Amino acid sequence: MIGNNMNEVSVIGLGAMGSTLAQVLLGNGYRVTVWNRTTAKAEPLVRDGAVLAQSAASAVGASPIVVVCVLDYKATNEILGTKEVASALAGRVLVQLTTGSPQEARDGEVWARERGADHLDGAILAAPSQMARPDTMILVSGAESAFRRSEPVLKVFGGNVKYLGEQVGSASAMDLATLSYVYGGMLGFIHGARIAETEGFGVDQYGSLVAEISPTFGEFFQHEGTVIQSGNYEVSESPLKISVEATERLAQAAREGGINSEIPTFASGFFKRAVAAGYENEEVAALIKVLRSSEESGKAA
Ligand SMILES: NC(=O)c1ccc[n+]([C@@H]2O[C@H](COP(=O)([O-])OP(=O)(O)OC[C@H]3O[C@@H](n4cnc5c(N)ncnc54)[C@H](OP(=O)(O)O)[C@@H]3O)[C@@H](O)[C@H]2O)c1
Repeated sequence: MIGNNMNEVSVIGLGAMGSTLAQVLLGNGYRVTVWNRTTAKAEPLVRDGAVLAQSAASAVGASPIVVVCVLDYKATNEILGTKEVASALAGRVLVQLTTGSPQEARDGEVWARERGADHLDGAILAAPSQMARPDTMILVSGAESAFRRSEPVLKVFGGNVKYLGEQVGSASAMDLATLSYVYGGMLGFIHGARIAETEGFGVDQYGSLVAEISPTFGEFFQHEGTVIQSGNYEVSESPLKISVEATERLAQAAREGGINSEIPTFASGFFKRAVAAGYENEEVAALIKVLRSSEESGKAA
């Protein structure tokens, strides 16, 4: 019989993140059932009051909300893809906090629905030691009714829970999109660190400068997002041609200074393609049209 007690949560997967999730639930007075492929990892949690399920199916059967946090969807499918789990699933909300792709989230939702369960897809934008803080961000998408049922649990995991709507792939898509932003910034940061160290400037001080300008640039990117969303590329903040010159200057300075120039040369080449396509006097966000047109012409990498 399904317990309707929303104070009961099962956690499947007790790696670094799953163990932390189970621990913070215990700390908040939840009755927690846990299961992990390697049973030994459950021991500290059992000492703190968790119930160890003998199988994944019995963990699924034990609570109305089942949190899954394993390495990837392949592992999820291995754990949940049994007849026993299928018959234990009906009426439950599967809160999938395993990192995956938007398509994996959509497939997961169909799979869960066929078994009478809801699939809510979440992305944790924090490390285990940062969980349960008021600013810990968790993106979540899927059926709104399932979100409402599991919202108190998600808020235990992180105070900044963002429900992105019923399209179940959205959380994973925004996880990827923000990751893209981070890695783009990371490449630029590392090139900047080479500029700093070859010019005899402390890289730690450079890091502090970057931290200080980041909120301002966050606002700038927010504006560029609204430009792309509106489709109006009239210059409103920053003309694309400024970035053409800035990225070329970066590449040139790298060549002059004898440091690796791959990152600015790539960026500069990209902006030059935007100029060649006639976007020079538009807002810098017009760069997105270079990506779109290469996709249409089948030249996307
Ligand atoms: N750690 C982070 O900073 C962080 C941040 C955000 C999101 N996440 C996401 O959270 C998820 C879990 O990460 P983690 O840091 O907890 O990873 P982890 O410490 O490496 O733990 C991996 C978990 O997956 C299980 N697993 C792997 N392959 C399996 C399989 N074939 N069958 C059954 N279970 C399997 C492991 O079980 P065993 O113990 O038996 O090996 C373990 O419970 C990942 O999707 C990750 O992207 C992590």
